[in-house]
Amino acid sequence: MLEIRELETGYGKKQVIFGLTLEVREGEIVALIGPNGAGKSTVLKAVCGLIPPWKGRIHFNDDVTNGFSPARNVARGITFAPQGSRVFADLTVMENLEIGGFQLPRNELKGRIARVFQMFPVLKERARQDAGKLSGGEQQMLALARALIPNPKLLMLDEPSLGLSPNLVTTVFRKISEINNEIGVTILIVEQKVREVLDICKRVYSMKLGRVAFEGRPEELRDDETKLKDLFL
Ligand SMILES: Nc1ncnc2c1ncn2[C@@H]1O[C@H](COP(=O)(O)OP(=O)(O)OP(=O)(O)O)[C@@H](O)[C@H]1O
Ligand SMILES: [Mg+2]
Repeated sequence: MLEIRELETGYGKKQVIFGLTLEVREGEIVALIGPNGAGKSTVLKAVCGLIPPWKGRIHFNDDVTNGFSPARNVARGITFAPQGSRVFADLTVMENLEIGGFQLPRNELKGRIARVFQMFPVLKERARQDAGKLSGGEQQMLALARALIPNPKLLMLDEPSLGLSPNLVTTVFRKISEINNEIGVTILIVEQKVREVLDICKRVYSMKLGRVAFEGRPEELRDDETKLKDLFL
């Protein structure tokens, strides 16, 4: 579904991604882990079109996507819930969801919102409340729900567990699994909660200094404390 080949990119003159190759197949949950500053968020930003690739190729369903705008990528089926998933605090839960579907016709949007309310009943109860009044965990749920509104084929999540208490982390990871299993959305997820993400993903990439340092199955890391530590040094 998603194929990144020899990607190089960065900010201004500063290169942060060096020849990165990564692939996500249809139906998978793929985890992208690695220490702070490794370039994980930058990879997601390049895929969704927030920053342009300098070199290399990004293919989505066999289509080259290099340089497409985020809006165009949403229309093609790629959505992104960025790190620190911000919701619009002064808008209601409903209005936040409507923004997620800004490209959809009104009648379709209603159906999509009804569907995410089924998945996230908490949000339905609080539909008319300002998003800023939700708890941190509820705001994460809202960010997830918002990214689902356009019916993505590929959902990219950047640290959905950020700032959540342990029980909420479990809830969020369970939701992510459900989104994958029950509605068949393919997922690329960046996470620092390594153990938890290894439990739900099919394959994992670990990055170090803008490069892939490990690629494999979660079992290979889960049972190997030394290897895992080494990847984060
Ligand atoms: N907007 C920006 N402008 C300039 N440099 C940036 C920008 N965003 C990130 N960087 C730099 O790019 C490098 C990779 O950052 P990135 O955010 O992709 O790392 P990360 O792996 O997501 O880290 P973290 O786990 O802390 O979120 C870092 O050196 C960072 O300082
Ligand atoms: Mg990041």
